[in-house]
Amino acid sequence: TEKTLILVKPDAFARGLTGEIIARFERKGLKIIAAKHMTVTEDIAKQHYAEHAERPFFGELVSFITSGPIVALVLEGESAIKAARQVIGATNPLEAATGSIRGDFALEIGTNMVHGSDSPESGIREAGIFFPEL
Ligand code: GTP
Ligand code: MG
Repeated sequence: TEKTLILVKPDAFARGLTGEIIARFERKGLKIIAAKHMTVTEDIAKQHYAEHAERPFFGELVSFITSGPIVALVLEGESAIKAARQVIGATNPLEAATGSIRGDFALEIGTNMVHGSDSPESGIREAGIFFPEL
């Protein structure tokens, strides 16, 4: 089984969609093994998004994810990475399928509701950043 780190980003949290989003992962069959409400610090944001440090939108990424409260979750299950990314949908909400979180609830790439780890190694690395106690 795999672990994936999910962040319900500040846009989704502020819109009151946290429960809806978590429910979709649960219905898919993924198991919640850790969850917390928090505000991401700049230090955590930079660690989490380290792979994007050279991208032109890195500053926006860090300022957005630290802009308000989020919910962080670790989900576990068979092929959890791929399964969660299917529930989340394509990075650009305009390309995300209807029925996915981004396809149903988002319009812009910068405010796309949810983060999900992109590989088993990222899942372990990112879960360790948000839940060092795991
Ligand atoms: P995450 O699950 O959030 O990591 O999304 P992803 O894996 O589908 O996309 P990726 O890791 O490539 O990019 C991380 C995040 O950067 C995305 O979720 C977007 O919110 C943001 N992002 C990606 N491309 C752009 C861009 O061109 N402009 C802006 N403003 N944000 C972008
Ligand atoms: Mg990513």
